[in-house]
Amino acid sequence: MNVMRIIVSADYDEMSKLAAEDVAGIIRENPTVVLGLPTGSTPLGMYRNLITMHKQGNLSFRHVTTFNLDEYIGLEPGHVNSYRYFMYENFFKHVDIQEQNINIPDGNAADLEQECMDYEAKIRNAGGIYLMVLGVGNNGHIGFNEPADHFPIATHVTRLDESTIRANARFFRSPDEVPRLAVTMGIGSIMRSRRILLLASGNAKARAISAALEGSVTPALPASILQFHPDVTVILDAEAASLLTRNP
Ligand code: F6R
Repeated sequence: MNVMRIIVSADYDEMSKLAAEDVAGIIRENPTVVLGLPTGSTPLGMYRNLITMHKQGNLSFRHVTTFNLDEYIGLEPGHVNSYRYFMYENFFKHVDIQEQNINIPDGNAADLEQECMDYEAKIRNAGGIYLMVLGVGNNGHIGFNEPADHFPIATHVTRLDESTIRANARFFRSPDEVPRLAVTMGIGSIMRSRRILLLASGNAKARAISAALEGSVTPALPASILQFHPDVTVILDAEAASLLTRNP
């Protein structure tokens, strides 16, 4: 039976706190858990809450393994807009996760096709992802699986949608500097995770959320595939939930 739990929180702070509590509970139950992680504005508050729990001595990441969803292609190593930099600055360097347990696609690999295959193999060898945390693009993308006429299965090189370039330009000096290509986990990589935690906040996400949760399942709105996953929790703030007709 498919189960999709939808939780509507008052605001971004409450969404972040609930998400962090969910992740922390899973780590406490299984300290060697394998997590899939997103970057972006949405999970920042969740990461801040997890760091606080760690600093208060309530949570250890010592035996946790992580796989990031995606990485830009062609930013030099250490670039402030790379997702590797984002993850270390906003999360990893503040907790006790072990370097060898952190996995992020290498957007500078000489052979990107090989890098994609190796990334899939690493996920498999780690026993698969237990909890995949996701944000969603204004256009309904998950990871960098952009609206398309099919669902890409495995980790692959993708061309960013014009709307994604515009949305992510806020972190760069100009839209021209946003890389056009990225490595991303595929829809299959995401759907094979045992559990999914989807987060969204703000009015800009309301259309994508209502289409993804209540519309047809279509690669034109990649997040809609989550309707087929057996164990999804969605935590929204009131704005992101505002267009749901079955607002819980
Ligand atoms: C990031 C990722 C993307 C973001 C999405 C939302 O690793 O995979 O799918 O989750 O673009 O981004 P924000 O949270 O910045 O609105």
